[in-house]
Amino acid sequence: MTEQSTVTTESVGHEGAPVIGVIVSTTRRNRVGRQIADQVAGLATGDDADVRLIDLAEVALPFLDEPDMPARGNYVEDTTKKWARVVASLDAVVIVTAEYNGGYPAPLKNALGTVWAAWNGKPVLVVSYGGRGGQRCTAALVPVFQTLRMDKIGPDVSITQSGDDYAPHGPLTDPGGVVEPHRSEIKAGFAALHAALRSGRD
Ligand SMILES: Cc1cc2nc3c(=O)[nH]c(=O)nc-3n(C[C@H](O)[C@H](O)[C@H](O)COP(=O)(O)O)c2cc1C
Repeated sequence: MTEQSTVTTESVGHEGAPVIGVIVSTTRRNRVGRQIADQVAGLATGDDADVRLIDLAEVALPFLDEPDMPARGNYVEDTTKKWARVVASLDAVVIVTAEYNGGYPAPLKNALGTVWAAWNGKPVLVVSYGGRGGQRCTAALVPVFQTLRMDKIGPDVSITQSGDDYAPHGPLTDPGGVVEPHRSEIKAGFAALHAALRSGRD
């Protein structure tokens, strides 16, 4: 069975199974990111996957609080060291992210930028959402992934929400219904992550 668990600062892998981190990239009050990420994680394919929800609201990283460049790896803060261990424990990543002002949310950029080597070589799939689907966010992430030496794979998933999807000031009334039209793309994305991991092992 596919296992899902929330990982914040610690990560324990299942021996032999690829570990796929589904990252909740928004942290604001009344966000819908967690609802969407829960749905995405529920569509993980493959009985051999260990799928872990990583909620940046729970990780609560400080904003870039290291004296040295992340690429040098001289981390001194415990929060950075723990985050580096969490990222290093993942074989592949699914970033579930809203588009904010035509780009990516600040907590996501902070999580990507706080450590460097741990991201290197990881396959990454992006599931964006927003009033316009979030394609501009995904496009803005491309050069970030390149500098982190991540391997972005497709299909890019773009979920367009309407005002009717939201309860007043709050969550989605039917997150499953919002994600359902993208089920096959999301499953294809998980399959592509598995394929990338297999080809990396060959
Ligand atoms: C600060 C902010 C900026 C936003 N900018 C965009 C945008 O550029 N494009 C878009 O499609 N939606 C935009 N939205 C709408 C969000 O995509 C939508 O509210 C989504 O639910 C936000 O994700 P969250 O609830 O997980 O924070 C923005 C929302 C916020 C809070």
